[in-house]
Amino acid sequence: MSADPSRDPDTLEQAAAQALPALLERAYARYSNFTVAAAVIDEAGRAHYGVNVENAAYPSGACAEQNAIGAMITAGGARRIVKVLIAAGSDAVVQPCGACRQRIAEFAARHCEVVSVQGGRPTTRTPFSTLLPQAFGPEDLD
Ligand code: THU
Repeated sequence: MSADPSRDPDTLEQAAAQALPALLERAYARYSNFTVAAAVIDEAGRAHYGVNVENAAYPSGACAEQNAIGAMITAGGARRIVKVLIAAGSDAVVQPCGACRQRIAEFAARHCEVVSVQGGRPTTRTPFSTLLPQAFGPEDLD
């Protein structure tokens, strides 16, 4: 375990989960009215956030997870994702879409978990490896 308690994965998970309801307000879900907020926690213990951003040309919209991954890469430093947290404005349990599973696979740590957040609290927890088994990844290009 890390010496710095603020880097403890469970503490980070709780803090990120609490941040998601306020972020849902920033989602741009003009067409679906289905707001989503996501956090990715990297192996260095930092949380990066994203919300869905839709577009009048519907396929040009971006998912919350996609934007959270973009924030992680933009921040520089660690790139291995240990947790992905997802909250929906409907308070439904949401799992990442197929395209986002592929995006997460690019950066997922071995024991990466997807955590659903409801009411600012972590609820269901799913090993990422079960969401996209036998994924095509960077090692396939080596
Ligand atoms: N959406 C996400 O942002 N993440 C998910 O995991 C599922 C779906 C967004 C895409 C679109 O803006 C809206 O939710 C409805 O599909």
